[in-house]
Amino acid sequence: MLSDSKLIIFDTTLRDGEQSPGASMTKDEKVRIAKALEKLKVDIIEAGFPAASQGDFEAVSAVASVIKDATVCGLSRALDKDIDTAAQALKSAAKMRIHTFLATSPIHMEKKLRMTPDEVVERAVAAVKRARNYTDDVEFSPEDAGRSETDFLCRVIEAVINAGAKTINIPDTVGYNLPDRFGNLIKTLRERIPNSDQAIFSVHCHNDLGLAVANSLSAVLNGARQVECTINGLGERAGNAALEEIVMAVRTRQDVFNCDTTIDTTQIVNCSKLISTITGFPVQPNKAIVGANAFAHESGIHQDGVIKHRETYEIMRAEDVGWKANRMVLGKLSGRNAFNQRLKELGYDFTSESELNAAFSRFKALADKKQEIYDDDLQALISDTLSAENERFKLVFLHVCSETGETPHAQLTLSVAGEEKTTDKTGSGPVDATYNSIESIVKSGCHLQLYSVNNVTDGTDALAEVSVRLEKDGRIITGQGADIDIVIASAKAYLSALNKIFGKLERQHPQV
Ligand code: KIV
Ligand code: ZN
Repeated sequence: MLSDSKLIIFDTTLRDGEQSPGASMTKDEKVRIAKALEKLKVDIIEAGFPAASQGDFEAVSAVASVIKDATVCGLSRALDKDIDTAAQALKSAAKMRIHTFLATSPIHMEKKLRMTPDEVVERAVAAVKRARNYTDDVEFSPEDAGRSETDFLCRVIEAVINAGAKTINIPDTVGYNLPDRFGNLIKTLRERIPNSDQAIFSVHCHNDLGLAVANSLSAVLNGARQVECTINGLGERAGNAALEEIVMAVRTRQDVFNCDTTIDTTQIVNCSKLISTITGFPVQPNKAIVGANAFAHESGIHQDGVIKHRETYEIMRAEDVGWKANRMVLGKLSGRNAFNQRLKELGYDFTSESELNAAFSRFKALADKKQEIYDDDLQALISDTLSAENERFKLVFLHVCSETGETPHAQLTLSVAGEEKTTDKTGSGPVDATYNSIESIVKSGCHLQLYSVNNVTDGTDALAEVSVRLEKDGRIITGQGADIDIVIASAKAYLSALNKIFGKLERQHPQV
């Protein structure tokens, strides 16, 4: 059993985070995120729900085969075939965990599962026993525990611990709980369940009432020793508890908490930026810890205080969570080694020479147009390069004509699965004309729900980072593209979303 002073961080960005509409990630993106999470030193990475689709299975297998320090976890419903599939996907992991779950609230049992409480206990026990055939590290979650009857929760949990579950996770699935009561629930369960000392109690809180972090911390004060959370609070609906907020609250208030995590907090900002770039979900400027304004002091009184004595207005140091000055690092004459070295410092490890070469030649092309290249430029450029590999639709050529008094048009060549196709369409503006040209070739039937442009650094020669959100048959997919030319960045973003839509098989939602 672990020491009571260790708080385990279970990251579910790749699973519950991916359940955010539009946040689906490719296998390669998941591997990149998993490597960043390993550098952050999370204890457990929930890599996905392997029974959801072939794509999810492959992504979990890929993460399992590259991660060495963290435990890799797969989610499964309490069904034999899900558990077997999860075990199969995790078989190459250095350390694996199977996380199985079954709903225990009256409303879920009656209306969703159509099972009696006795049947639920029996199925939960059978699922845990099945998972124990593959690993000693089995976690059980009574889904919607936050609305379950305490007596019934005690009964189920006692039974699954007897069946071999080593972690009991209490989810507030619909984000209904309040901090005081949720903390008390954890305390009551630990006190009333006779074998509770044989398992670690964990919590998994959703943010529907904006209380996910508060509820999780209250649970920790009442004996929970694992928190399930996500970078930037990504997750189903209003999201999950934000990892960075949990970790920094516990670290900053060691006068209150009698436990701590082993997270390397200096990696937090890097992880946050990576998730935001990959999913296209921007971080709001006033977001705690990772928002651009989280450490910015605007008022003169605050600035004066901080200059005189930092702790007058700052409870944490920006550098402790990984904020660095956005240094001008490279220019036109920088060589391949300097480029590679700086990217390593930023947390990027290329898996092959060809990946490094592709990134370096894009860096050179950018340096020809932009004199000073900053860390943020590099991050945007690398994300764009890595996600451009193995794509079905590739931009080969784009010529856009936009002048006063004329209708803009876009002459465009796309490579579609290796075959080049050219078209020329008009639109109400240059971006609209480009998207019309793409659609005249792809005929995706997608509806553009959101289009946004951000400049990565200051100045009119900055890289533009474009995010789009497309909807097709109720499915929402985001795409990102970066380029010094806004229209080219727009085309790349649209194509990146199309590549996700047409490159990925349909997946099943675990809770349906
Ligand atoms: O919110 C939830 O209940 C879940 C479970 C699968 C743990 O995500
Ligand atoms: Zn959840």
